Amino acid sequence: MSGPRPSPAPGPTAVLGPDGALPQGDTKRVAVEAMFDRVAPGYDRMNRIISLGLDRRWRRTTVTALGLQPGARVLDLACGTGDFSRDLTAAGHRPVGADFSAGMLAVARTATPLVRADAAALPVADDAFDAIVCGFALRNFVDLDTVFRESARVLRPGGRIAALDAAVPSRALLRAGNAVWFRGAVPLLGRLLSRDPDAYRYLPASTAYLPPAAALIDLLASAGFVDTHHRTMTGGSVQLLTGTRT
Ligand SMILES: C[S@@+](CC[C@H](N)C(=O)[O-])C[C@H]1O[C@@H](n2cnc3c(N)ncnc32)[C@H](O)[C@@H]1O
Repeated sequence: MSGPRPSPAPGPTAVLGPDGALPQGDTKRVAVEAMFDRVAPGYDRMNRIISLGLDRRWRRTTVTALGLQPGARVLDLACGTGDFSRDLTAAGHRPVGADFSAGMLAVARTATPLVRADAAALPVADDAFDAIVCGFALRNFVDLDTVFRESARVLRPGGRIAALDAAVPSRALLRAGNAVWFRGAVPLLGRLLSRDPDAYRYLPASTAYLPPAAALIDLLASAGFVDTHHRTMTGGSVQLLTGTRT
């Protein structure tokens, strides 16, 4: 007798469900951490390819947007392999990196102090930092509200936050071009070059986690930030959210 076959259950660390569904809640936290552990060795190379080398320029714009004094104490939240930390050190600041992926931290190319920690519960004293940068991680967090509140806690009053992430262009032509690259070419490159092709299907799909700009600003404001701004770069394919801790 034959009947409909149940879909195979995803492995304990698969980031996308069998039907391409995005994980939620604690399942997401575990799957995202495992995914970054797997892609860590090739992460920097893929990052440069996917961003067509523009990620360096986006990071420079992000650091400039913080308007820091020399020697500022800056938390590189979800630091990955430490790109922001290197830029911050070069600019004369004192970064500390935090990330929950041991794999990413293990291949980080930086002399910056690094701590393995979840952005939702940082092992950091209140008011410890002058600023926070966060690169391409907002969509990976389980709960943005919790992370923004935790960020406000570890920033001193007047401290600045700048979060950079992918976005979907609002103009139709740019959105179509973005889709060809991120939903067509990037998964293909992932299949050819990465040890975890699934991760490069997750990457474009995960922008769906991000609320619209106005909702991001509202979340930041309700977490205790003022002077909040949202801007896009590179035809709307990248977004930068900034604010100042009250
Ligand atoms: C796309 S990578 C970006 C890394 C780096 N910021 C950059 O700009 O290249 C996202 C990073 O966020 C980290 N991450 C995701 N969720 C996290 C969480 N809840 N706490 C800490 N790190 C997290 C991942 O381990 C990964 O290193």
